[in-house]
Amino acid sequence: MRAYVLPPGCTSIADVRRVERPDRDPRPGQVLVRIRAASLNRRDQAVVAGTYFGRPITSDTIPLSDGAGDVIAVGDGVTRFKPGDRVAATFFQTSVEGPPLGERGSLGSPLDGTLVERMLVYEDGLVPIPGDLSFEEAACLPCAGVTAWNALMVAGRPIKPGDTVLVLGTGGVSMFALQFARAAGARVIATSSSDEKLERVKALGALGASDGVNYARTPDWHKEVLKLTGGRGVDCVVEVGGVGTLERSFESTAAGGKITLIGVLTGRSADLSPYALMWKEASLHGIRVGTTDMFEQMNRAIEANRIRPIIDRTFPFDEAMAAYQHQASGTFIGKIVVRL
Ligand SMILES: NC(=O)c1ccc[n+]([C@@H]2O[C@H](COP(=O)([O-])OP(=O)(O)OC[C@H]3O[C@@H](n4cnc5c(N)ncnc54)[C@H](OP(=O)(O)O)[C@@H]3O)[C@@H](O)[C@H]2O)c1
Repeated sequence: MRAYVLPPGCTSIADVRRVERPDRDPRPGQVLVRIRAASLNRRDQAVVAGTYFGRPITSDTIPLSDGAGDVIAVGDGVTRFKPGDRVAATFFQTSVEGPPLGERGSLGSPLDGTLVERMLVYEDGLVPIPGDLSFEEAACLPCAGVTAWNALMVAGRPIKPGDTVLVLGTGGVSMFALQFARAAGARVIATSSSDEKLERVKALGALGASDGVNYARTPDWHKEVLKLTGGRGVDCVVEVGGVGTLERSFESTAAGGKITLIGVLTGRSADLSPYALMWKEASLHGIRVGTTDMFEQMNRAIEANRIRPIIDRTFPFDEAMAAYQHQASGTFIGKIVVRL
């Protein structure tokens, strides 16, 4: 079967190889899935560049954490799935080389990921695809979708109708947060470096943003956010920027609001003041994707609210490296998908 592999020491997409891998039968508790689509997350750029957690990978690794497909075969003792079922893989998995309840790692580094035709996983590493989502749409859910769901609905106080949510940028996590927040009856303010992207996210109809702020043109974007909320601030910030945006996120938050720290797009260390966080008695929550329970709860909400992931562009398997380049270009909103 066809797969892409990042070699040990990989530092760019020029190092990525196309390989043939042997098929394996599922052992007890395992499920063989034909991957139909995989999606990219920002971490996949870091993994291929050799900067994920500060170092290149040390063994051959199939990239990408997120994928969806259909079940081809199941091993002895599998009770939750049967051939033909449409499934998505969870971000955290137990290695199929070890016992079923072994330590969990994430797909795409350190574990082999989803840019492969057929993948083995333990059955607790799969969830059914919600409703009539396509494989491409379902492949967007495991990392970006679950992270956004965790941030809005699980961390601290869940958001409620009438709340205002601030999403930073128009990438995968932020666009899921936009849709989940709107479906829950909240107002959403989005920031972006691009007016054109802001127009696109405002034009998404019932699940679109009500307001946009261009953070490139308005470096003090928190003042704009405060203006847009009559000085009150927002109930939740979906923080993907990290140290370069955190202080302005504190300033943007309402008294008692929450900031969910998800990403570090602007870096990991800086001199910043936590004063506004303290003064507003706001809370800061670290987010690390989420659990299978959260994935299933999110899927019920997706089905009930007929939410469809926002896919910017889909690439064929042979052009998977062009998908990486499109993500690196920054000229997208939402998700980028590879179809197998
Ligand atoms: N902790 C976790 O569990 C977890 C899970 C998923 C992702 N993450 C992290 O979250 C971050 C976003 O991931 P993603 O996959 O959604 O990324 P993505 O799809 O690549 O989107 C990134 C977007 O962030 C926006 N952005 C960049 N710099 C910004 C800034 N200074 N201020 C505001 N927005 C900025 C840009 O939006 P515009 O183009 O509109 O300007 C860009 O398109 C990454 O750091 C990722 O590693 C963490």
